[in-house]
Amino acid sequence: MRNFAIGAFDSGLGGLTVVKELRKALPNENIVYFGDTGRVPYGSKSEITITKYAKEDEAFLIKNNVKLIVAACGTVSSLTVDKPNTLSVPFFEMITPAVKSAVKATKNKRIGIIGTYATIKSEAHKNKIKELMPEAFVLGEACPLFVPMVENGIIDKNDIVVKEMVKRYLKPIKEAECDTLIMGCTHYPILESAFNEYLEGKVTLINPGEMLAKTVKEYLTENNLLNDSGCKKGLENECKIGLKNYGNNKNSERSNELKQGIEKTGRIEYFVSDKPDSFMKQALILLGEEASGDITKIDIEKEK
Ligand code: DGL
Repeated sequence: MRNFAIGAFDSGLGGLTVVKELRKALPNENIVYFGDTGRVPYGSKSEITITKYAKEDEAFLIKNNVKLIVAACGTVSSLTVDKPNTLSVPFFEMITPAVKSAVKATKNKRIGIIGTYATIKSEAHKNKIKELMPEAFVLGEACPLFVPMVENGIIDKNDIVVKEMVKRYLKPIKEAECDTLIMGCTHYPILESAFNEYLEGKVTLINPGEMLAKTVKEYLTENNLLNDSGCKKGLENECKIGLKNYGNNKNSERSNELKQGIEKTGRIEYFVSDKPDSFMKQALILLGEEASGDITKIDIEKEK
């Protein structure tokens, strides 16, 4: 069981920002990732539809022998938080770890949340914050256009479109003087420097993927479930080989890691539900490294 992969799923490829954090925290874990690219976005759909899709995504991962499942999607997480886990493996969502971290970080007890329409409508973060800090002021803002912006590579903090959209969406958060902001959607951490610029570095930004990865690491460590089947070759040599492979992309996060001698022995297997045409381009933006595992297209409807 300990050497089974971690299963992670998202409505599309945004969940790769969560995989990125899992890779940082748990470099030796194998990951099976399912991106429902044929049915993305989830964030503008109804709770009934999102829940149905999530169940199918989870069933697919379970068939792939995973040791636990991560909802690497802010929208799915917001609809599953505090619901009993009916799966045969442990389930992790992104709301609880992010909220705990925000409650710890805030000094003025004013917390902002940004996410998809469905996430903000669910009030999942707000309810959880109120459980831990009843006196907190909580403001949620739906920011749907950030998703296509990131997917189209419109992420530079100096880009006029980025500046304008960040200002438009974050103005209420700034005006409400929130000192902490949960980036409650998979794509948003890619815009972190643009958020920081507009908020003048005065607001603590919480990346739910990072907090979730910490939680998963704690769980695996405490339960003696860390993968121990990793490649045992000399680190130096591995990194040299890796660097050669990443030679064309010298500035990627991955090549920087390799220069510092950080090797990841875990492998990622990718499954998607639509043609994987733009996968590599998207993966580089969202994962921060070139996707090196197999990419397989499946028919999620037939996987039931
Ligand atoms: N992955 C989704 C989320 O984190 C964003 C994209 C979508 O709407 O499906 O909420």
